[in-house]
Amino acid sequence: MYKTLTTSLENGIFIVTINRPDKMNALNRDVMADLNEITSEIERNSEIKAAIITGAGPKAFVAGADISEFVGLSNSEGATLAKTGQDIFFRIENASKPIVAAVNGFALGGGCELAMACHFRVASDNAKFGQPEVNLGLIPGYGGTQRLVQLIGKGRAMELLMTGNMIDANTALQYGLVNYVVPQSELIAKTKSILEIIITKAPLAISRCIEAANAVFAEGNGYDTEIRAFGECFETEDMKEGTSAFLEKRKPNFQGK
Ligand code: COA
Repeated sequence: MYKTLTTSLENGIFIVTINRPDKMNALNRDVMADLNEITSEIERNSEIKAAIITGAGPKAFVAGADISEFVGLSNSEGATLAKTGQDIFFRIENASKPIVAAVNGFALGGGCELAMACHFRVASDNAKFGQPEVNLGLIPGYGGTQRLVQLIGKGRAMELLMTGNMIDANTALQYGLVNYVVPQSELIAKTKSILEIIITKAPLAISRCIEAANAVFAEGNGYDTEIRAFGECFETEDMKEGTSAFLEKRKPNFQGK
């Protein structure tokens, strides 16, 4: 079904693997089209409660947009490429179910941007992060200049954007770019273990956490989004179930309604 992705679904957790290991899983047009389509599948398929995005092979998560597709592009074609990429990554960032990056190696350029569009990141100890576009006479185009500032602060982001330098997994941890660093063999298990907790919670409340936390960075007032989303929770069966279960001293049984 997907040209460039492999998938597996087990106990509600959907693992999406970008599968071009001979090209360091670089994001060509096919991968971007597949990522767009898979975001729809994640929304549509009620058996999927949460998703992990990772890369095939031991070396790379994603080593960037596919540089071979940049050759000969005009100003407007470059801008269109960026707009298309941004739109796809916005859909990941604003998905109603958790999508987490399991960064198993190089996350450079568009790979770092993809990891940053996910709701949070877990890295293997060989992971490396960077925005090396300046080496190509470019800047990040899939949201990297914005999300890097949001995640690690302006000073550190400016340095990474302008030097093109890579940082290792432990520096990424120290910067707050990733939540955990684990041996590569434990990466998927660690990421799954966090999602296994999340998927026991009320799904509609999880969606609203994503929406309200993202609103910090959206135009307008995120506090208003929080007020509206908080109010909406009171209309859900899950909120009635969660509060009743607490008061009745039993485990809640959430239905996502
Ligand atoms: N776009 C297209 N092809 C890429 C790529 C990218 N972003 N990153 C790696 N590849 C390809 C290489 O061209 C090579 O293909 P080949 O075997 O057909 O020659 C293959 O993937 C393996 O990469 P290679 O450079 O030989 O591996 P390495 O271990 O020596 O180096 C990297 C790994 C990630 C450091 C290096 O590939 C690199 O710097 N990639 C580009 C990173 C970048 O600038 N990303 C931002 C793009 S906007």
